[in-house]
Amino acid sequence: MRIDNPKVIAALPELGVELRTGTAMSGLTSLGIGGTTDLLRIKKHEGIPDLLNLLDELGIPHKFLGGGSNLLVGDGELPWVVLNLVRPEPDVVIEGTFAQVDAAADLGRTVTFCAKNDLGGMEGLIGVPGTVGGALRMNAGAYGMQIGSYVREVKLYRAAARKIEILSRNQISFEYRHTSFAADDMMLAVKLELPSKPFKEILQGIRICNEKRRSSQPLGQKSAGCIFKNPPGASAGRMIDELGLKGLNVGDARISDRHANFFVNAGTASAKDMLTLIGDVRERVRQAFDVELEHEVVLWNA
Ligand code: EPU
Repeated sequence: MRIDNPKVIAALPELGVELRTGTAMSGLTSLGIGGTTDLLRIKKHEGIPDLLNLLDELGIPHKFLGGGSNLLVGDGELPWVVLNLVRPEPDVVIEGTFAQVDAAADLGRTVTFCAKNDLGGMEGLIGVPGTVGGALRMNAGAYGMQIGSYVREVKLYRAAARKIEILSRNQISFEYRHTSFAADDMMLAVKLELPSKPFKEILQGIRICNEKRRSSQPLGQKSAGCIFKNPPGASAGRMIDELGLKGLNVGDARISDRHANFFVNAGTASAKDMLTLIGDVRERVRQAFDVELEHEVVLWNA
């Protein structure tokens, strides 16, 4: 979708927003899949309510992009524009055992920065690609921990109230790969409270998680992490593997040989290829195990 309304274009600089026309979403997602649209890069949080009022007033649909690492975007010209936050400097500020983190901060770099300040707890998230805002929205987790456990406060733009708000921990619920945030809430910043630990000890945990991840996940390939959520008490990856589906492909969309819940883009896969593969696997798992797998990856127009 193209922003060609002169009123919007003229208002953007004052709102601290940069317009990048005709942006390929394939370049902004870890899967390397996705069509084209206009991108609005937000440099200051304070401009967001006015920006969104303007877009709504003119009927311009929009979506919020985090790190693009858990996302499958449709092909072709997309019917909405995309907003994302420009990372400020600094993006993490430590105060005692609290870390105030901008949503645009890189998750892995945040984990290591906190570690260097003797703050641990998030070792499991090392190697998870994406932004802190994306991790927060999805309640990202691995190796027995999830980010929600450390959240004390969240600054967000609430589309329903049309304003920036600060929520405390008890106003948010964090479940397995799910939070109580509304679909159109935009994460802006988070205050984490982390356990004090010596850097060396955190580093050891980070190394162990890194090793486990490297040995079981296809890290060098284009993927969106796990495609399906694990059903209660079961592993989607193991079920798909048991059906002998590793290596199954539709065009360049392929089930990883290393981990069966990772579907990789082995070249120039389209969203259509990936969705066909996802649908096929869901059907096979349903027939074999009588289990309906739920998407873990977020689908946008795909
Ligand atoms: N397994 C197989 N074959 C496979 C993959 C896994 O037999 O192809 C078996 C493993 O041997 C293991 C069991 O299934 O016994 C579970 O596998 P794994 O430890 O790899 O964990 P997972 O349940 O597949 C979850 C998260 C990952 C996270 C890891 C590590 C989900 C959907 N996945 O994977 O998160 O990194 O645990 O904690 O919750 C993601 O969210 O995108 C993601 C990758």
